[in-house]
Amino acid sequence: MCSLSKDLPLVIAHRGAAGEAPENTLAAFQLALEQGCDAFELDVHLSKDGQIVVIHDYSVDRTTTGQGAVSELTVEEMKQYDAGAWFHPSYAGERIPTLEEVIAMTPEHIHINVEIKGGIGQGIEEKLVELLRRLNRTASIFVSSFHWNCLRTLNQIEPSLRVGLLYDLSLKDYALLPKAAGVNAYSLHPHFGKLEAEAVKAAVAQGVAVFPWTINGEADMARMIDMGVSGIITDYPGKLRQLLEQQ
Ligand code: G3P
Ligand code: CA
Repeated sequence: MCSLSKDLPLVIAHRGAAGEAPENTLAAFQLALEQGCDAFELDVHLSKDGQIVVIHDYSVDRTTTGQGAVSELTVEEMKQYDAGAWFHPSYAGERIPTLEEVIAMTPEHIHINVEIKGGIGQGIEEKLVELLRRLNRTASIFVSSFHWNCLRTLNQIEPSLRVGLLYDLSLKDYALLPKAAGVNAYSLHPHFGKLEAEAVKAAVAQGVAVFPWTINGEADMARMIDMGVSGIITDYPGKLRQLLEQQ
């Protein structure tokens, strides 16, 4: 298990190694593993037939050969679409994975940051908890969302599940945020451009992890490492791993 007590930040592969493989596909997660990530970040929605699927957008149009809203398509329908060819012909044949499929290919020591995008208040919270309990993987998952009401719901239905506040605001005192939001938060997920070192240190000192997104340049990665963040969400986990090995 990776731990916050490590001095170096966790390498969190954004949508898999999304800079070098089609985002949110098994190929992108496999590449991230090969590049030495500690965790995946991925996005989830609820399909028409009530399964948790891994895709960023509310529609399949941008990242597959299909068209339509994720919430209006069954998994069987989505599986007919190619989710890799848009990125590069060598990835043709990739499919939209279910969350269960991603968990199945993920070693237990690799954590998964599940970002809930769709299905909020429509049962995704309960289905996620049900899935993690069935797979016995509650401990290796942490959930984030811009929609803090779903984090409050998760706090209620499974208090042991770690949740994180995702936001794009300029906040001076990060340590105060969980209380203000009414969320029992394990982590904060701010946009990296608005981070300040003192605030990061204060949050981490109080036991709140700070996972900024999405940092792809080496200079910015180095700045985040210096600030003492708990993990760095990046499209290039291999590049970040190399940089950390030089520390
Ligand atoms: O979880 C951090 C980041 O992924 C949030 O933005 O649009 O890439 O899901 P987005
Ligand atoms: Ca995301």
